[in-house]
Amino acid sequence: MDWSQGDDAPGVIRMIDQTRLPSETVLLDIGTVDDLIGAIQRLSVRGAPALGVAGALGVVIAAQQFETEKAIAAAADIRSSRPTAVNLSVGVDRALAAFRTGGLQAALTAALQLRDEDIAACLAMAERGADLVRSLVGGRPRPMTMMTICNTGGLAAVEHGTALGVIERLHLDGDLASAIACETRPLLQGARLTTWELDRMGAPHELIIDSAAAMILAGGGVDAVLVGADRIAANGDTANKIGTFSLAVAARYAGVPFIVVAPETTVDPATASGADIEIEDRGPDEVGGFGGVRTAPPGTHARNPAFDVTPAALITAIVTDRRTIRPELGERPETPLDQDRSR
Ligand code: MRU
Repeated sequence: MDWSQGDDAPGVIRMIDQTRLPSETVLLDIGTVDDLIGAIQRLSVRGAPALGVAGALGVVIAAQQFETEKAIAAAADIRSSRPTAVNLSVGVDRALAAFRTGGLQAALTAALQLRDEDIAACLAMAERGADLVRSLVGGRPRPMTMMTICNTGGLAAVEHGTALGVIERLHLDGDLASAIACETRPLLQGARLTTWELDRMGAPHELIIDSAAAMILAGGGVDAVLVGADRIAANGDTANKIGTFSLAVAARYAGVPFIVVAPETTVDPATASGADIEIEDRGPDEVGGFGGVRTAPPGTHARNPAFDVTPAALITAIVTDRRTIRPELGERPETPLDQDRSR
């Protein structure tokens, strides 16, 4: 995803339409607030860091499209278009603060700065996360197998990604035996997007159905589970794609380290615990069928929480771009950085 602007023309957000992958790589140019909100809600752009940058650039779109008061109202609509990933509000708020003081150009500068910070954060997390994984398994005994869920790669950020960025780093270092991608029902971000990204990086990988994960973890052979995050509460409870909590329970049972990889912008000190995190409900249709084909009888009631919360006690480590936090040892993300021994 990036900002694209010709001479004297309004700019657009250029992004891959993630709903069309892996069968087609289609670029979308988003130039209106309505189009951006639509793209966010149907998951053409998705993943917490990507939503943050899209939200910030969305403020620029709003400032191009509307006079000041209407632009501010449109920014609020973008901010609330999906509730769980805190990065969306962080991105909107940053660009909006710049817009209020310096107008459109200041908003664009702030949004592009967030984009650049996101790329740098992903590179830092990749290094820190790969080092942590190597240390948790006791050095570099052999290439390792990582399990992951949803999609946390370059598609979900600006470049490289979070948990998948760590997997890419391990692969580039010759330390990856295989990445196991959970398919991630109901929208199949793992099956459609993570496998596509792993294939492009040339990393060995396997796809499993979500319900195979516990058995495979308990059977041994997985060295760590690496996941992203949509919001990390002050106490370390972490919201991420539905199914993450089950993976954490299974990883604990199997004695496998469970590691959350997310930028500092995903840590939300204003949210005390997981109980305070709003979980997006995406309605029954995505559960009762897929790709326009109904699988459940018409009228079947279905629940579709898009995220779950993994309690801090099940998390071996949270790796951000600036520190490593060990929730299972009682460390909390809200600890100020200068008092944090884990840095
Ligand atoms: O509904 P999605 O596809 O936006 O959910 C995405 C996730 O849950 C990711 O794991 C999370 O945003 C981290 S992406 C680096």
